[in-house]
Amino acid sequence: MPLEFSIRDDQQHTSQQELEAIFADPGFGKHFTDHMAVATWTKEEGWHDAAIDRYSELSFTPGSAVFHYGQEVFEGLKAYRRADGSIWLFRPEANGERLARSSQRLALPELPVADFLTSITELVKIDRNWVPGGAEQSLYLRPFTIAHEDFLGVRPAHTAAYYVIASPVGGYFTGGVTSVDIWVSLDSARAGAGGTGAAKCGGNYAASLLATRQAQEQGCSQVLFLDAADRSHIDELGGMNFFVVTAQGQLLTPELNGNILPGITRDSILRMAPDLGLEPVERGITLDEVLGGIADGTITEAFACGTAAVVTPIRSLKVGEQVHSLPQVDSPWSLRIRQNLVDIQYGRIEDPYGWTVRVC
Ligand code: PLP
Ligand code: COI
Repeated sequence: MPLEFSIRDDQQHTSQQELEAIFADPGFGKHFTDHMAVATWTKEEGWHDAAIDRYSELSFTPGSAVFHYGQEVFEGLKAYRRADGSIWLFRPEANGERLARSSQRLALPELPVADFLTSITELVKIDRNWVPGGAEQSLYLRPFTIAHEDFLGVRPAHTAAYYVIASPVGGYFTGGVTSVDIWVSLDSARAGAGGTGAAKCGGNYAASLLATRQAQEQGCSQVLFLDAADRSHIDELGGMNFFVVTAQGQLLTPELNGNILPGITRDSILRMAPDLGLEPVERGITLDEVLGGIADGTITEAFACGTAAVVTPIRSLKVGEQVHSLPQVDSPWSLRIRQNLVDIQYGRIEDPYGWTVRVC
């Protein structure tokens, strides 16, 4: 039986004037819409009590498992307002499928993809006035499932809760579409073989925060993590996948080795690449290969990609005290890829892949 999200509140609680003020400078994840989607799961009843409710504080007992053992998974996707005012999602079923895979890895209940899609579309419809229409702006949607049970035994919880919250956003990095400096962490890892690297769970991000602080202290915006086992292959960034472009027209990204999040942006770029004139290659890539390629000119570009970051060119990789600067290229591939992607997302060009879904 599909879940029905009953509407507990459908009022707009924020004035149009307040919305305009937020849209003037939304930042990323600072403001939240008037509503949220909620659903409850118990071992006995499965998923039930689904609703769209007012965005509000949640009440949990301190014994709730999520606070102790981090049994939590989340997603990130965006709703885009097009020039004609209509609102669209980008590959939302891929996020629903990934949430289900992450849930399975974290021993959390899997929300059926159809119910995931209902939760997203119902929330976006109710909060449609919160979808900004400015350049590169969107409504960032954050679905998440948590272990809710008030129990300290270390075992999968018997009760869980699912929520979707939404936040109007501009660019993830301050300063607009600009290139970023990246800190390569030589001593910490975010994930290891058999671990949760391929799942989108809070614990992976918690593991990345100390290195993120080090990156910031080094004047860098993000951390690039290496494979935990050999410390030589590149995995991904703290919250983005990693690509390089070669002088021979190859678009290289680390293969999905179980430690890397299978990014939907990553997958979309790999699928677009041949149509743009690049040869996509997924394989193991060592840090030495990248640094050597930057030095001898065989690697011309590097970029980060993800829902939040879209496609963000990398200006330099900092390894210890050494700064390895990428060359300045005219008409970089990264910006052409970015443009093609956002043009599809905002409906400015045809979507030959069938990725975009209209909400309202
Ligand atoms: N890798 C990590 C660790 C991320 O947090 C994200 C962001 O979601 C990505 C990669 C990119 O994934 P996607 O393109 O699906 O947003
Ligand atoms: C996303 O891109 O959706 C993420 O979850 C990554 C995070 C840096 C916001």
